[in-house]
Amino acid sequence: MLNPIFFKMPKIIIALDFSDKKSAMKLIDLLNPSIYFLKIGKEMFTILGCKFIQELHRLGFSIFLDLKFHDIPNTVFNATKAAADLGIWMLSVHASGGKKMMISAKKALKSFKKPPLLIAITALTSLKEEDLKEIGVKMSLTEYILTLSKLSNDCGLDGIVCPGEEAKKIKFLFGNKYKIITPGIRFSKDLLYDQNNIITPKKAKEYKIDYIVVGRSITKSKNPIKKLDLIIKSMQ
Ligand code: C5P
Repeated sequence: MLNPIFFKMPKIIIALDFSDKKSAMKLIDLLNPSIYFLKIGKEMFTILGCKFIQELHRLGFSIFLDLKFHDIPNTVFNATKAAADLGIWMLSVHASGGKKMMISAKKALKSFKKPPLLIAITALTSLKEEDLKEIGVKMSLTEYILTLSKLSNDCGLDGIVCPGEEAKKIKFLFGNKYKIITPGIRFSKDLLYDQNNIITPKKAKEYKIDYIVVGRSITKSKNPIKKLDLIIKSMQ
C-alpha cells in the first residue's frame, strides 16, 4: 500500500471518536503507526485521560490532542504546557480565543526541545453562514476563516484547521510552511452526519492540504482498512 508520508499527498489523521477503549483498540490494532496519525478529542480524553495517550505512544503513534483550548490566556498557557508535557505531536486551540490567548499558548511551548505543532481552529466544519450570524459574526464564512487564519499566522502558530474549500486561498496567502489540517472528508456517497463543509480526498490533494482528518467514514465502517485504501488510492 502507498504510504502518504513518502508521497505528495495529504497525510491521514484518524479521529478516534469512540465511547469506549475496546472499540478504539479494535481499529488501532489494524493501523500502522508509520502511516497514520491519531487524533484524540474531548470524548476519548475525558473517558481515558493521559494514560491512553501514553499507551498509544508506546505503540508508536503520533498523537494530535484535539482539545481545542479556548480560555483566558493564563489558563491556556498552563493547559498548553501540561499537554506538551505528554509528548504529543500536535495540539489545537481556538483562534477565536484571540491574539493574547494564542501568543500565551505559543509562549508555553518555548521551553520544550521538541514542542508539539500548535494549530488553530478557524471555523468548525459543521458551521454554516447562518450559524455565524446567530453568534453575531457579520462576515461571510470565508472572510471569517481568512481573518482567523491571518491572526493565528501573526501569532506564530504552525497552522490551522479549516474547511477544504478555503485551503487553496490560505496556501496561496501564507505559503507552504503554514500547515493546513482539514476535517469533513467525504466521498460523494458518504453520510454527512453533522458536517456541512465537506471535501473529497481527491480535492484535498488538489488543494495541497497537509493533513486530512478522517473520522466517521472510517470509525463507522465495517471495513476501515478497505476504506482507508480507497482514500489513499483516490489521492494518488
Ligand atoms: O469525519 P468526521 O466528520 O467524523 O470528523 C469529525 C472529527 O473532526 C471530529 O473529531 C471533530 O472534532 C473534528 N473536527 C471538525 N471540525 C473542525 C475541527 C475538528 O469536524 N473544525
